[in-house]
Amino acid sequence: MTEALSFDKNGIERAVHLLQGSGLIAFATETVYGLGGDARDDLAVARIFDAKGRPRFNPLIVHVADMASAERYAVFDATARNLAATFWPGPLTLVLALRPDAGLSPLVTADLQSVAIRIPAHPAALALLRAFDGPLAAPSANPSGRISPTRAEHVATGLSGRIAGILDGGPCTVGVESTILGLVGRPELLRAGGIAAEDIEAHLGQKLSAPHPQHITAPGQMASHYAPNAVLRLNVTAARENEVLIGFGAVAGDITLSREGDLIEAAANLFHILRAADSMADQIAIAPIPDHGIGRAINDRLSRAAAPRG
Ligand code: TXA
Ligand code: MG
Repeated sequence: MTEALSFDKNGIERAVHLLQGSGLIAFATETVYGLGGDARDDLAVARIFDAKGRPRFNPLIVHVADMASAERYAVFDATARNLAATFWPGPLTLVLALRPDAGLSPLVTADLQSVAIRIPAHPAALALLRAFDGPLAAPSANPSGRISPTRAEHVATGLSGRIAGILDGGPCTVGVESTILGLVGRPELLRAGGIAAEDIEAHLGQKLSAPHPQHITAPGQMASHYAPNAVLRLNVTAARENEVLIGFGAVAGDITLSREGDLIEAAANLFHILRAADSMADQIAIAPIPDHGIGRAINDRLSRAAAPRG
């Protein structure tokens, strides 16, 4: 049985209780819903991989409430501290050297010497992390390879019966996953996401390098991911027969990511509209999305959603 928990004192207390018993709680973050388990607890972390059907070689993001907690698990240099001070709480994940005394389950980091960590900005996520008073490993709360969840009901559709509870914090405002920045060595953009790469580059005063091919070990970086059931065709301005067209800006479509052509609004709507289109037709077409700012994250997700299924 999966408990529906509301974002209030009782809901948070119940969620903490379930987490302390190695249970899994899906919770709202500003990006997508995360599937949280105690990052120090092998059983809880193993359950995350099991509930999602996620390959074990793919490490998880550790969520913490504040900087003091972050420094218990990861080694921060001046650059990392500066980025954290600027972009946290928020949709940026930093991959840093793992502290030898971190005490995290080795499953979280897939036995790597690095750890991905972030402080989320959503009040429900922060309230849960503070009340739990420990690190939560949390991938997106969806079956591996499928469309990420941006509402509590998306989580229930994919994982009901497989997890202990869902903490409902309403629709996610950012709508795409966090930007992942590798800081072990030269700053590398490991995944485009909710913070525009341009903003990070402006802050660092340097260009981010593309990830080293060796680093591509993660489902989020795999060719086919975020997949709807329908076949998806990209950069379309006129639909074919039998296709439902997702519009953007001047391309009106049957449904639209943003009538005004606003990329922030489009990101917030993306996964919900993909799910809606998936229930309307077997073939989905989607309008061109400008490839800058958060548009890069949208195009990254769309190209993986459209990729041939492995
Ligand atoms: O917005 C988000 O980031 C959401 C919410 C719930 O916080 N979480 C999320 O987690 O998207 P997930 O598991 O779907 O994606 C985590 C990504 C994976 O692509 C994984 O490979 C990468 O983070 N990652 C984790 N640890 C890493 C490490 N040590 N080195 C490189 N990549 C890492
Ligand atoms: Mg994911």
